[in-house]
Amino acid sequence: MEITVFGTGYVGLVTGVCFAEIGHNVTCFDIDENKINTLSKGKCPIYEPGLEEMLKRNLSEGRLNFTSESKKACHKADYIFVAVGTPENEDGSANLEYLEAAIAEIGMNLIRDAIIVIKSTVPVGTNERILKLLNETIESELRVKVISNPEFLREGSGILDTFHADRVVIGTDDPDAGSAVAKLYKPFGRPILQTDVRSAELIKYASNAFLATKISFINEVANLCEHTGANIEDVAKGMGMDERIGRQFLKAGIGYGGSCFPKDTKALEKLTEYYDYDFKILRSVIEVNSRQKQQLFYKAKEMFGSFQGKRVAVLGLAFKPHTDDIREAPAIELIARLLEEHADISVYDPAASGNVENLFGSLLYYADQVDTAIKGADAVFILTEWPQIMQYDLERFPLLMRQPIVFDGRNCYDLKHAEAAGLTYISVGRNAVNVHASLKGLKY
Ligand code: UGA
Repeated sequence: MEITVFGTGYVGLVTGVCFAEIGHNVTCFDIDENKINTLSKGKCPIYEPGLEEMLKRNLSEGRLNFTSESKKACHKADYIFVAVGTPENEDGSANLEYLEAAIAEIGMNLIRDAIIVIKSTVPVGTNERILKLLNETIESELRVKVISNPEFLREGSGILDTFHADRVVIGTDDPDAGSAVAKLYKPFGRPILQTDVRSAELIKYASNAFLATKISFINEVANLCEHTGANIEDVAKGMGMDERIGRQFLKAGIGYGGSCFPKDTKALEKLTEYYDYDFKILRSVIEVNSRQKQQLFYKAKEMFGSFQGKRVAVLGLAFKPHTDDIREAPAIELIARLLEEHADISVYDPAASGNVENLFGSLLYYADQVDTAIKGADAVFILTEWPQIMQYDLERFPLLMRQPIVFDGRNCYDLKHAEAAGLTYISVGRNAVNVHASLKGLKY
């Protein structure tokens, strides 16, 4: 069986490489020729642990190849997986222009019957529209089927999530086509759920929205902890021990970011507007997250009053550890606010500094280790829980900083350790540590 994957972003590339790994013949297509050249040489353009080695192995064993010619990508394919981006339109709805362009390209180049599998996250009803579009463009003797197969992998653990997926969702009204796609996944040995197309499309949005809800909920509880003197780590632990609630996605912090939760919650909200349905919880989830992203800045502002002439270090720039992705990362919003306040900013991230430099250029100082980032700083902000930051020796903060004030948006350190190291330490949903009356703003 020949598989083609359209789009070599996180989802497309991980899917293509993992399908090759389990023995399928895979061609990955992308319109970006530079990216295809890089990939053909066995180099991975994104930071995804383990992906480059797997890519190299499957290239050299001849099961994987890359092309930017759509004809070549479509001619032999029995299955075409579409994994192009569906970014956010200005009004929050899903932008389907890349998907439509990919479908047009497939329609023009198909010369045999094929099953088109849509992995891109798309509003309910899109797969039906794609089938209609394809039937309008393909040669009349050809037969295509369109299947919804949403993706649940996380950036930074894409390979693990593919090989240990909780479920593979296959949405189709054609049982034979559904079974054929299920067969492709069989070597992974993961549970398969077959549904109708619309339900599969909604499973994706509802899953991301539910996870985002868990995060916004625990962040609200964290804020309540700050008012009541409770400790969010203990509260989350106690809640998570109830198996009906579950331990995962109860980590309070500076809010969710990335290319998925922010965009998908907004796209789902747009979808509800279309159906004139008021999804109240979803609206609050989005609102709570956008407020949460500003929390650390306001805490610091309350203490410092003004950042003019202050040296601040931002540790962690990616929206989460083990990725270089800075889309909707809380750090980006914080840096923009601090720049408006004329702070002098140094930043550190083990993987995402380059992407931040593309955005802010010489406005920031880019440190290649924590030590250099925090040297002489009046305040440190922690925005991503990278191991390099979590395992940092706390004694070095007072040693290197002008004053050891740390605002931690990811609760990286134990309160007792922070106290013993002499840090003024303000985290999320926990008591502030060593806040002396001499510091401006006595709220903590
Ligand atoms: C998310 C979903 O977890 C995947 O299942 C889904 O396939 C993917 O979106 C997608 O739609 O493509 P991802 O965005 O890679 O994956 O990252 P997550 O690990 O889910 O984290 C998202 C954000 O939530 C991060 O900013 C993270 O710091 C934050 N988060 C996560 C919390 O603040 N608390 C938590 O307890 C968990």
